[in-house]
Amino acid sequence: MAISLTNYQKILDQIQQEISGRDIPGRVASYIPELAKVPADKFGMHLYDLQGESFYFGDNEERFSIQSISKVFSLALAMKMIDHDLWKRVGVEPSGARFNSLSLLEDNFGIPRNPFINAGALVVADVLISSLSNPKEAFLTFLHELTGDDSISYNETVAASEKSEGYRNVAMVNYLKSFGNIRNDVEEVLDFYFHQCAVAMSCKELSKAFLVFANQGKLLNSEKQLLTGQQVKRINALMQTCGFYDEAGEFSFEVGLPGKSGVGGGIVAVHPNHYAVAVWSPPLNPKGNSARGMAALERLTTLTGYSIF
Ligand code: DON
Repeated sequence: MAISLTNYQKILDQIQQEISGRDIPGRVASYIPELAKVPADKFGMHLYDLQGESFYFGDNEERFSIQSISKVFSLALAMKMIDHDLWKRVGVEPSGARFNSLSLLEDNFGIPRNPFINAGALVVADVLISSLSNPKEAFLTFLHELTGDDSISYNETVAASEKSEGYRNVAMVNYLKSFGNIRNDVEEVLDFYFHQCAVAMSCKELSKAFLVFANQGKLLNSEKQLLTGQQVKRINALMQTCGFYDEAGEFSFEVGLPGKSGVGGGIVAVHPNHYAVAVWSPPLNPKGNSARGMAALERLTTLTGYSIF
């Protein structure tokens, strides 16, 4: 069956039933104290196709902490502003290491392997602070434009919670600064980074926002070209190779789509020219990615019979 004739709702209903009945081990993130309070049994999924049709189940309209999913938005915004010079300060290679690893920075003279590990996202945050007069406001404006929803905002309690315990990111940004790869005040970089991670969005909102990466950089139902085709190609390539840290190979192997995870339990994936899909389930596997989310997306590409490969 051609992908355009796929009955996504039937497939999502089957995924909900199958995954809810499976015992999939995972643990809700607790190193950010506020995240530990989120009920482990939340489970939702939302898929938007390029016709603007919606398919969903479960807690798909409840907002949660997007955490590292925000790194895709900050990268897109930075690429809109300084594309070429950005790649002198951050690499495009998978790290094969944990998302919060410090060890690779020493060998690479403070150039993070890619923009999706924490070190890379801190450099991107620094770039946004240098290029924008009010980066926190501009970041939200970008999300409002992508979703058409002005109510998306920062959860200040989550931002403060990460700030209270974020010792590793504090170490990371100071280490990067020692190499000259952070230009602004470290406190300002951390404040912006903790806020971007603390944005609250639902699966419905995330899948809508990621449609731009499925639609060659254009907003849906609009002629507005927000990102160039080349920028979208590069962002999708980075999601494919680096979106899941030291589990990027596994995600490609099982799911076969570009995607990005966050420790709030969200995962967003893109099927270029077809759809964007978001899933949320807070318990994480040992690599820090949603355990049920990974399984649900494996079912999606298996049951539809289509991935990018
Ligand atoms: O910096 C951190 O550790 C968190 N704010 C984000 C990490 C994250 O989401 C990793 N992704 N799976």
